[in-house]
Amino acid sequence: MSDITREQVLEYDRSFNQHPWLTGNIAPIPVERAEGIYFWDYNGKRYFDMSSQLANVNLGYGNKDIIAAVQKQVEILPYIAPAYASGPRAELAKKLIDLAPDNMGKVFFTCGGSDANEAAIYAARTYTGKSKILSRYRSYHGSTLGSGNLSGDPRRFALEAPAATGFLKFFDPYTYRSSIEFGSEQEAADYYLGLLEDQIQYEGANMIAAIEVEPITGANGVIIPPDGYLQGLRRLCDKYGILLICDEVMAGFGRTGKMFAFENWGIKPDIISFAKGVTCGYVQLGGIIMSKEIAEYFNDNTFLYGLTYSGHSLACAAGIAAVDYYQEHKILDHVNEVGVVFGQLLEEIKAKHRSVGDVRYIGLFGAVELMKDREKKIPLVPYGYDENKTMARIQKLLKDRGFAAFGRENNINITPPLIITEEELREAFEILDEVLTIVDEEFLG
Ligand SMILES: Cc1ncc(COP(=O)(O)O)c(C=O)c1O
Repeated sequence: MSDITREQVLEYDRSFNQHPWLTGNIAPIPVERAEGIYFWDYNGKRYFDMSSQLANVNLGYGNKDIIAAVQKQVEILPYIAPAYASGPRAELAKKLIDLAPDNMGKVFFTCGGSDANEAAIYAARTYTGKSKILSRYRSYHGSTLGSGNLSGDPRRFALEAPAATGFLKFFDPYTYRSSIEFGSEQEAADYYLGLLEDQIQYEGANMIAAIEVEPITGANGVIIPPDGYLQGLRRLCDKYGILLICDEVMAGFGRTGKMFAFENWGIKPDIISFAKGVTCGYVQLGGIIMSKEIAEYFNDNTFLYGLTYSGHSLACAAGIAAVDYYQEHKILDHVNEVGVVFGQLLEEIKAKHRSVGDVRYIGLFGAVELMKDREKKIPLVPYGYDENKTMARIQKLLKDRGFAAFGRENNINITPPLIITEEELREAFEILDEVLTIVDEEFLG
């Protein structure tokens, strides 16, 4: 552990740490400790962790079962190279296959979500012998070369190099911002699937290895697809011999009230990428779950992809304890119960604040979309260009009052730990309500 003073934390951090996605001259909150759904800064100020950090600390802080599992494992076998079999790696793989749909065969472990998607790209291209991969504009799949090129949001721009070819984008079923008034969810689904089918034909189905989607778009605004969309996407993939990869890095592990988000529409992907909630941040872990067909292919063909820390003992021990905790403590039931209150609170926020254009939610996965003019659907900040740092100022107003969340573009994403109680939710929403009152009065112009 580190026992340097608050002043040293600030000084060393400013001098020696480069934080991701930020300029070097920022002043981050120095965080000292955490428990349950809260964390505290070095001045003793308490924050509601309304994003579960990066939507990964699903079971909150101080989970005794996960802590004990990691402590025990570090003494027995802290690490063993991926070429060996080990208890934690074998047991967690078995548990994940048991959780996944019945078409799934094997797990390949990585250190997080970006490299999980790299592995998914590798497996899909190798298995199909095809190279193109389609993903959506409003998506984030990671920031390594392949996963960064899969991502559709502007975080891909720095990684779009000539070397990374074959990554194509299609439009998201983002019905709230569509200029078309759809009569039903199925009509919306059919419209977007029709566009995608044209694109598949123009690109050549015989060259497309996979379509990868976040079943529910996460960081880019919790976009929940219209009913029929994922089922139709599965059918399109089957029709054209394309693999369907579901990125469950953020939406998986109970966030939507199901273990995996795609279960909300009853589909079975060919590959699932996962990370975040599998260990809830106690140790970093990610991976892919491959269908039986793909796993069988790699029984006879070398899996030419690897990482020193694939299936790290401590990470897998944390994963076993986390998965057991989700099940033994009926976390999904809790998410479904408290998710009803979450939805009501979001609807109340929308009814009360003219800055709120839309609220989207499922389980404890929510977003508040802020508009400058909600009748004309003009977003509070234009896409990719928040010149006045408006959203950062709003996030600061929230943090100053103890509500920590994150968002992109004109969205505030709200993804609290899945153990949050109704009382805690209500208390946190009072802060959101107070800040949106300021936004209504001072930010709409
Ligand atoms: C859907 C999704 N995929 C992949 C990633 C990348 O995961 P990591 O940051 O663990 O590399 C993220 C991260 O936020 C994500 O939300």
